[in-house]
Amino acid sequence: MTELQREIGRRRTFAIISHPDAGKTTLTEKFLLYGGAIQTAGSVKGKATAKHAVSDWMDLEKQRGISITSSVMQFEYDGYCINILDTPGHQDFSEDTYRTLMAADSVVMVIDAAKGIEAQTRKLFKVCARRHIPIFTFINKLDREARDPFELLDELEKEFGIGTYPVNWPIGCGVEFKGVFDRDKREILSFSDMHKGMNKIKPTPCDITDIEKMDELIGPYQRAELVDQIELLDGASYEFDLEKVRCGELSPVFFGSALMNFGIEVFLENFLKMTTSPLPRMSGDQEVSPFDEEFSAFAFKIQANMNKNHRDRITFFRICSGKFERGADYFHVQAGKPVRLSQPQQMMAEERQIINEAYAGDIIGVFDPGIYSIGDTVCSAKKKVQFEGIPTFAPEHFSMIEQKDSLKRKQFVKGVEQIAQEGAIQIFHEPNTGMERVIVGVVGVLQFEVLEYRLKNEYNVDVIRNDLPYSYIRWIKNKGIDVKKLNLTSDTKWVQDFKGNNILIFTSEWNINWALEKNEGLILEDFSKD
Ligand code: G4P
Repeated sequence: MTELQREIGRRRTFAIISHPDAGKTTLTEKFLLYGGAIQTAGSVKGKATAKHAVSDWMDLEKQRGISITSSVMQFEYDGYCINILDTPGHQDFSEDTYRTLMAADSVVMVIDAAKGIEAQTRKLFKVCARRHIPIFTFINKLDREARDPFELLDELEKEFGIGTYPVNWPIGCGVEFKGVFDRDKREILSFSDMHKGMNKIKPTPCDITDIEKMDELIGPYQRAELVDQIELLDGASYEFDLEKVRCGELSPVFFGSALMNFGIEVFLENFLKMTTSPLPRMSGDQEVSPFDEEFSAFAFKIQANMNKNHRDRITFFRICSGKFERGADYFHVQAGKPVRLSQPQQMMAEERQIINEAYAGDIIGVFDPGIYSIGDTVCSAKKKVQFEGIPTFAPEHFSMIEQKDSLKRKQFVKGVEQIAQEGAIQIFHEPNTGMERVIVGVVGVLQFEVLEYRLKNEYNVDVIRNDLPYSYIRWIKNKGIDVKKLNLTSDTKWVQDFKGNNILIFTSEWNINWALEKNEGLILEDFSKD
């Protein structure tokens, strides 16, 4: 085995998703703690000594207590090199989350045991299912009152149309939580053995028919309940099938408590066994193997001004094949030009580390003078490939913004353009006007707030914002069409993107139908492929 094969073979890259408050940040931190990547957890929010969670770094995030931007973290565990892609939990940031999911090989879905599936989990799951990404479920907060575990599994299966395979099974919940039963090893991991540190919990092997021992461990009442439940599970649940796990049809389910450090190791051990090393990606109709000697990567996220001390822009690439070497010459496919990826770094939340090499599966952030767009490919000049683009989601909210102080025009234009390049907003203008006023389109309204905040904090520009009543966007696909001659309802607006494409924005679907019916041959699409 070559070094390249060994390094790539030990990599695991996954995204972690959840509805806000289910415990994603806490679980991520515990992974990092177990991997020795951080020494103290920062999740004890609200206490005097509180530190913010390592993945929460923007001021605005801190103020609002939500994760807005995704971060990437790498840590070692048991010989594996693990890359976690944290995703913003707030529904307004779904577009960024969708893109992050494109860079992951599997997903860990955190569910609050008292709540089950929630709105955001539902949305995110759909994206994973479309890509057949393997999904691992961590049912969290068993130290609190929880819903019946059978009911939770049933909900997952019915709503998501996938099978579930509980790898372990909870024994009680809340104050009665006694631990979990490992279905494969047939042993009990007892919650009372747990100490809030990082030490391994010693499992107690237990034969489920050994009544005396079981009673000693969990008491007769819970013993009887557990025996019944395990019997039912063994008889009725799905068989474990690794193939199905790997194509996203069967989700291994784990129960635990991230806050209490319970169930993390079992999860990691099984997760690492069941997941694969980085998966191949498609370039046209060709499969690019991660083990290919030649380097290739695609951009899935752009972030400007991550750190106020370094005013800059970072583009995040997911390496798809080979080995990245600092200083080597690569090729930027979309620009058709050679590039050198400057200041390559790996991120640990706000700490950056310059790296000299990285392998398929890894995420690297590179300094970007403004040349990359989301979805771009960078590869070795020896073997050119081009990965499939990342879909852009149609904005659903529009607002007109202009700068308060006309002397700040330059900063305003720069700020708006940079933030648009990152993919957080899309910008349009009225035909035949310049950049005095721009129409901003976003997927979730909170992005408007982020935009205003960032323009003020990073570019020193105050803006006036007027929300517009439109919620649908369609690109006109007919080339050379005279848009002024179209028969449109009075509340349909004609705008252009900055590539000059003609676009219509509508207040209702009814108006879209009107446009199509009254203008024969008009072709409208809800996304731009250009
Ligand atoms: P998120 O990233 O998914 O949004 O969730 P996060 O980890 O921030 O956790 C949300 C809250 O739930 C936190 O409470 C956290 O401590 C708590 N929590 C996470 N895992 C567990 C668990 O296993 N058991 C219990 N009991 N609580 C857990 P918080 O910040 O203290 O306060 P608040 O946000 O509830 O006000």
